[in-house]
Amino acid sequence: MGRFYVTTPIYYVNAAPHLGHAYTVIACDVLARHHRQRGDDVFFLTGTDEHGEPVADAAKDQGLEPKELADRNAERFKALMPRLEASNDFFIRTSDDQHKRRVQEVLQRVHDNGHTHLGMYEGWYCPRCADFKCDTEIGPDNTCLIHEIPLVWEQEENWFFNLSTFQARLEQLYAEQPDFVQPETRRNEALSFIKSGLQDVSLSRGKLTWGVEVPWDPSHVFYVWFDALLNYYTALGYARDGEDLTDRFWPANYHVIGKDILKFHTVFWPAILMAAELPLPEHVFVHGFLLAGGGRKMSKSLGNVLDPFEAMDTYGVDALRYYLSRDVQFGADGSVTLDALAARYDAELANELGNLASRSIAMLRRYRDGRVPEGELDLADEFAGLAEDVAARLDGADLTGALDAIWQRVRRLNRYVEAPAPWTISKDDVRAADLDRVLRTLAEGVRTLAVLLWPWIPASSDKLLAALGREDSGYAGATFGAAVPDAVAELEPLFPKQAR
Ligand code: MSP
Repeated sequence: MGRFYVTTPIYYVNAAPHLGHAYTVIACDVLARHHRQRGDDVFFLTGTDEHGEPVADAAKDQGLEPKELADRNAERFKALMPRLEASNDFFIRTSDDQHKRRVQEVLQRVHDNGHTHLGMYEGWYCPRCADFKCDTEIGPDNTCLIHEIPLVWEQEENWFFNLSTFQARLEQLYAEQPDFVQPETRRNEALSFIKSGLQDVSLSRGKLTWGVEVPWDPSHVFYVWFDALLNYYTALGYARDGEDLTDRFWPANYHVIGKDILKFHTVFWPAILMAAELPLPEHVFVHGFLLAGGGRKMSKSLGNVLDPFEAMDTYGVDALRYYLSRDVQFGADGSVTLDALAARYDAELANELGNLASRSIAMLRRYRDGRVPEGELDLADEFAGLAEDVAARLDGADLTGALDAIWQRVRRLNRYVEAPAPWTISKDDVRAADLDRVLRTLAEGVRTLAVLLWPWIPASSDKLLAALGREDSGYAGATFGAAVPDAVAELEPLFPKQAR
């Protein structure tokens, strides 16, 4: 048993939650739930990023104070979590006073340690990214490659973080911890950014007031990215009343992020932690973009967003959670559409898993009055090592691979239930022992799958485990043969066809 601290990025409150946001929440929730199954001491953090220019600008457009907009939209992100069945242990808002105080404490230390200087900033700036762009990040006609909007030439006096002085230490970090950034393509991208030569970065903004005040120069606020990154650390200080969880959970095991915020998490973040003399996170996992049907990025600014609420209203939350891990290789880009979700729902959740569970339970009730017969189990070889394999894959954040390994056994059980045709056997008393074995194998197979699938489809797994009279979803039960059910009860269809 160990401890596991996992974080999502914190979400900008300048717009409403969309599927891209739901994606990281679900991914982290799968990891958090899996580690809880294993009995680990888990902390799962998510929240909202409320300061900075994007939020101040959006508030102005709507005739609101930034805090009013933040309050309104933070509530929407907060409400998203239970809808997604996210089991987050805390929801941080960067406008929390305790967060702000701790940001000031840490960055004051960075300043006291001599890692800052005052300088003049000039450069192409994207107000949506809240980021000054370097040459390779600028599109045609000085546009933002991510948002496809014109960049603004900005000039102002800023406090700088002396990032350039951390180049050698960052290269050393990447050499000593080859899995610091995953997948490997993203690690290479980050490392080549570092090797191309690091420039100092702006640590404060003078023109903006919506942010955390720089304690040694109150005419400035911290550049929003440093305030935001620090949430991963500050939250542990006040997430529990009267308790400081920092020693228990810091450093994080996994920061899960999208590829657009790679530079901040794989370069700036470790450097600022080094400057503050704090331990570094173990891994940053970088996922790809969910793309709209046409293969373009799905984002609020491009207005082509697939609505997670609509998907959940129609197919249920488990279907959305399942679909996103299944259809898009975690770490790569992939298109997502409601049609593809519907197809997976019908073919896999309803037909393969749902039918397997219903048929198995119905046969046990019909042929054995709902009692699971004693005796031998088939298929032990086919399940051997599966629980360990899934755990190993999830230790590397391979959500898609782990789910696929499990699904191969869903399919194996379907072939098994087809093959000896238990309803034929049941007509033949001589073969009653065969039927016993088949029914017992099905009960235990379905139970094992329900435990393994629990991180992805917790509500459906819980229903299934209840019908099997084995409600424990702990990982000891992920081994085939570990907790063969005694008796089964009626099961409502897990993934009804009439969902739409
Ligand atoms: N506030 C910053 C993160 C600060 S973390 C210290 C931010 N917020 S965001 O709301 O714009 O994005 C949050 C996350 O959602 C990012 O990881 C981003 O990659 C992800 N997604 C936004 N749109 C996405 C898709 N279309 N597909 C997948 N994820 C994408 O960035």
